Amino acid sequence: MKRRVAFHAVDTHVKDGMRVGLGTGSTAVWAIRRIGEHMREGRLSGIVGVATSFASEMEAHRLGIPVRSLNDPEIGGEVDLAIDGADEVDPALHLVKGGGGALFREKLVAYNARRFVVVVEECKLVPHIGTGFPIPVEVVPEARACVLKALEALGAEWTIRHGSGKQGPVVTDNGNLLVDVRFPSPVDPEEMEIRLGLIPGVYETGFFTRIRPTVCVGLPSGEVRTLG
Ligand code: A5P
Repeated sequence: MKRRVAFHAVDTHVKDGMRVGLGTGSTAVWAIRRIGEHMREGRLSGIVGVATSFASEMEAHRLGIPVRSLNDPEIGGEVDLAIDGADEVDPALHLVKGGGGALFREKLVAYNARRFVVVVEECKLVPHIGTGFPIPVEVVPEARACVLKALEALGAEWTIRHGSGKQGPVVTDNGNLLVDVRFPSPVDPEEMEIRLGLIPGVYETGFFTRIRPTVCVGLPSGEVRTLG
């Protein structure tokens, strides 16, 4: 289903000559692979990718998709289209992202995309975000204790992310820590994205509320429903 919904998004939205934001995760990787396949077989040309993580950049390199920085004059700080996954989507199409730890560049690219297409399975649709899947918050290491205190003052519970085959905490592509945050009751995601962003030492958060995405939802029947 992840593959099907990602293929649908690419086949519907990616056109010749586009600057395309390449998302991160087990769903978005299929969109990168589909773009690579179309380019290899001559069905797409002139595509330039902007990667949202080391992982998506490496996949694009493997497939021969040219990758540029958002700062490259050819890109000019904006992409035509970004395609990415999400961890949760609410009825207003607010998102939680960053389960794979790539939230900063994902948000930078998504918020600077003319069109943002999200590819998810139906199980990612929830009534409220922030109470189930934890909100990833990327934190500058030097600010850890201060940020954790500020999160507690907001009533949040937190865990510092460990794992990924490495001893100690997970370190992001930007050299920061990841704190997974849960709120005991539903919060206003738009307000919380702003409030968390105001805490000194918070590098970025996984709330994506200030863009209006098109959400492609893979249904168990194999069909794809489009929201937004
Ligand atoms: C990566 O940091 C994330 O934002 C992913 O886009 C998100 O976790 C969805 O990933 P999956 O498609 O693997 O569920």
